[in-house]
Amino acid sequence: MHQRKIEVAASVLNADFSKWQEWLPQLEKAKVERIQFDIMDGKYVPNTGINKKTIAELRPHTKLFFESHLMVEKPEGYVKEFAENGTGLLLFHVETTKKPIELIGSIQASGMKAGIAVNNRTPAEKIFPYLEKVDLALVMSVEAGSGGQKFNPAALEKIKALRQEIEMGGFGCKIEVDGGINAETAGQCVAAGADVLVAGTFLFIHPKVIFEAVKGLRKA
Ligand code: DX5
Repeated sequence: MHQRKIEVAASVLNADFSKWQEWLPQLEKAKVERIQFDIMDGKYVPNTGINKKTIAELRPHTKLFFESHLMVEKPEGYVKEFAENGTGLLLFHVETTKKPIELIGSIQASGMKAGIAVNNRTPAEKIFPYLEKVDLALVMSVEAGSGGQKFNPAALEKIKALRQEIEMGGFGCKIEVDGGINAETAGQCVAAGADVLVAGTFLFIHPKVIFEAVKGLRKA
């Protein structure tokens, strides 16, 4: 049985931002640890994600930790802007840069924590060389680019492989999983070794029951 503290990151990709004064207090009441903002450029993924201005707009209204998930080509170009918009951890995809070590360094030098992600079809081994440097390793359990997709159980083997690598190396890196997370898949991911669960659709199905939904994830 694991002793890890399990965190919930609320993905606001499909949240109604005109109603943020409703759901933000509910996320706080539900004690989610993080809010995740999905940033997309329409090139690395065929969508545009959330409007990055909303990050700075929401920042003054909550103390919740903000992480921004870059699903973009050339993530290097986003570091300065995100260091200034209230993002605490900046995640980039290993598939989108030829210089991950330098990018991790520049993210951390800007004062943010750094996270590295593998998309649905990328083997976990691709990010093994960076685990000792990053604060978070994200395993996508759906194809990056949209919410509401079905969980891909292949992610569980990747989580297990990362957990083993992190334990063997004694690294402090947390494992996050994103895509199709609900009360059932959350339990499978935690058992496989995940620390942080990203959920969007499951939490925002009925904003009024966010509190219950988060409890459902935690029970996992
Ligand atoms: C995919 C996005 C989604 C979103 C949450 O690019 O990153 O995974 O955060 O998705 P659901 O709605 O499956 O929780």
